[in-house]
Amino acid sequence: MGNNLLKGKRGVISGALDENSIAWKVAERCVEEGAVITLTNAPVALRFGELNKLAEQTGAEIIPADATNMDELDRLFAKSVEILGGPLDFVLHSIGMSVNVRKKKDYTDLNYEWMQKTFDVSAISFHKMMQSLWKQNAMNDWGSIVALSYIAAQRTFPDYSEMAESKALLESFARSFGYHFGTRNKVRVNTVSQSPTRTTAGSGVKGFDEFFTYADKMSPLGNASSEACADYCVLLFSDLTRMVTMQNLYHDGGFSSMGMSPAILG
Ligand code: NAI
Repeated sequence: MGNNLLKGKRGVISGALDENSIAWKVAERCVEEGAVITLTNAPVALRFGELNKLAEQTGAEIIPADATNMDELDRLFAKSVEILGGPLDFVLHSIGMSVNVRKKKDYTDLNYEWMQKTFDVSAISFHKMMQSLWKQNAMNDWGSIVALSYIAAQRTFPDYSEMAESKALLESFARSFGYHFGTRNKVRVNTVSQSPTRTTAGSGVKGFDEFFTYADKMSPLGNASSEACADYCVLLFSDLTRMVTMQNLYHDGGFSSMGMSPAILG
């Protein structure tokens, strides 16, 4: 049961691949809270994924777009404004992929062409989304833009490899574009730094299961689930967080403030 926190709001949700995707839960929660949305993913992902099911369930149209392609992003936001009947109140960037991790390249032996691709998909796509929204003036005043990040942007998690730098870049784009959007039309831009979560992207990282358990023990509240992450995104899209911008917000059950936990030593 929703509380109408997003009643009358229009949004675009990227990155829902299957039921495990964080974006899938966010889409469900946004609609439950009264929003109308469009869904988007890369054309290739639409072939493998189950997005039609989510679209049916949420009454949303799917607009394919490769998030590295500016023309496709321009079309995505223009169509979304048209379909939803006005400028957007919120946008979720939930996109990540590392070519070097996928191809099991060691961090000390990275392929730089693949690294460029990783940055383009995982971080520069966020700037591209915002630049497209900016140029089309597609965001409503007091709107909210959120991207999902991970604490490897601040601390070293060796197996996360070049995704660490991707997330550092992503968080920096949020601060920099947050300035421009804030001063022009009071739009806020934040990143949510989420606990390890069992999804297609998450499980691609080497040793994910061991690490998931470690983080769960280290966090006083345990790992934050994707459902809890969806709740937090709803809050950030709602009018209850109008003055929060240019922040990287930890949503991790307390993990980021821990030094050592007896639960690990035990
Ligand atoms: P997921 O695999 O379900 O979602 C990743 C999405 O990125 C997929 O839907 C995929 O199709 C999309 N994508 C990849 N390349 C694309 C492109 N060129 N254009 C458009 N979309 C593209 O996995 P998850 O975990 O839900 O990932 C969502 C976000 O959450 C990512 O940014 C990820 O780094 C972040 N995150 C995930 C954590 C985890 O442990 N799963 C922890 C912290 C952050």
